[in-house]
Amino acid sequence: MEVSLTAAPTRLALMPGGPATDVYAYNGSVPGPTLVVREGDRVIIHFHNALAEPTTIHWHGVHLPADADGSPLYPIAPGASHDYVFTIGAGTAGTYWYHPHPDGRAGYQITKGLYGAIIVRDPHDPLPTTLPEKLLVLSDNRFHADGSLDLPDLPDADSPAGRVDMENGREGDVLLVNGQVMPTLTIRSGEVQRWRIVNASAARVYRLTIPGQTFLHVGDDGGLFERPVELSEIVLANSERVELLVRGTGAAGTQATLQTLAYDRYIPQTRPADWNRTRDVLTLRTATTPPLPLVVLPERLRVIPPLDTARAVATRVISLGQGLINGKTMDMTRVDVSARLGTTEIWEIENLVGMDHPFHLHGFHFQVLDRNGVPVPYRSWKDTINVPRHETVRFIVAFDDYPGKWMFHCHILTHEDEGMMGILELK
Ligand code: C2O
Ligand code: CU
Ligand code: CU
Repeated sequence: MEVSLTAAPTRLALMPGGPATDVYAYNGSVPGPTLVVREGDRVIIHFHNALAEPTTIHWHGVHLPADADGSPLYPIAPGASHDYVFTIGAGTAGTYWYHPHPDGRAGYQITKGLYGAIIVRDPHDPLPTTLPEKLLVLSDNRFHADGSLDLPDLPDADSPAGRVDMENGREGDVLLVNGQVMPTLTIRSGEVQRWRIVNASAARVYRLTIPGQTFLHVGDDGGLFERPVELSEIVLANSERVELLVRGTGAAGTQATLQTLAYDRYIPQTRPADWNRTRDVLTLRTATTPPLPLVVLPERLRVIPPLDTARAVATRVISLGQGLINGKTMDMTRVDVSARLGTTEIWEIENLVGMDHPFHLHGFHFQVLDRNGVPVPYRSWKDTINVPRHETVRFIVAFDDYPGKWMFHCHILTHEDEGMMGILELK
């Protein structure tokens, strides 16, 4: 798979139906083009930075060599070009995304329009290939009354509202799905659709539900589970992905709504006044065409062999403070964790403060073991895990290959940019 991507300033209507506004875009669109690849593919991305500032492209969740990861250690200068080359690993089929990751400016550049999805396909996908697939890249933003983007060049640390943003991360009041406001998806009665959902929001955590019906949760960051799990709502923190099977249960011509319910991730002092408002995300309309016969879904999707805790050579405690990891802010010249290539470790992420922090590790998928000592009910491959206020999450990770320096950080973008990030070195 070979593709050219250019990040450039451009003008387009970010608010659907609104006036053109100054944005950054990959190949002229927001979100950028969806990259569809297969396990085993060699991917070559010819990237050109046409912005007036340094940037990178980070392939969030993709297991690849450190120098192809687009981390802040490998900035691409304004006007420069760079080829990102990597091979998609076996067993990594799933939903990923790409976004800029320059030092201190990821939040600005992503909010300005630079984000896109990556779908990695499994040549032997256990789900019927006949299921219609929908990709939902969730984002949110703020606009002035005239429809132009409301995004200061630098975070405003001096005003009370700016300080709330630094604390909470920047939430927008306009919710976007693939860049559209309240789009309509059509489903046939009896049909099962496979939804891939990406939370590309800077700070908003979604708690998704379709009132009146359940769905099957079949996968998350690193692809499918061993078996489907039936749910009526799901929390999706920043940069997490899920795969859901949604069944058309309505009568012909009726409508349902995908909503996001209140999710309290805040400290009381800066909790937004309307935090507990339910928000509509999209309309799910049942087509008037005759119902489809029942779709039979597999009960087993794949086997996820557990990583063996007895093989762990170290347990790291990573504590999350407000804006700090292990009491420090990011230093690009410092190594915070040194680990040996080929070893397995347990990481214990403890959140010491009164708001949630979604923790992300670059380059390697992990298996969550437990939350506050309670084992998680099923295994999956994750690269980001929300750590709720005052909770502790433990995961196990195998550093099988790819030496070098890897970021780990909070994925609330203002926290990340303000230095809530550390560096793991593998050698
Ligand atoms: Cu979405 Cu450091 O990444
Ligand atoms: Cu990442
Ligand atoms: Cu955070």
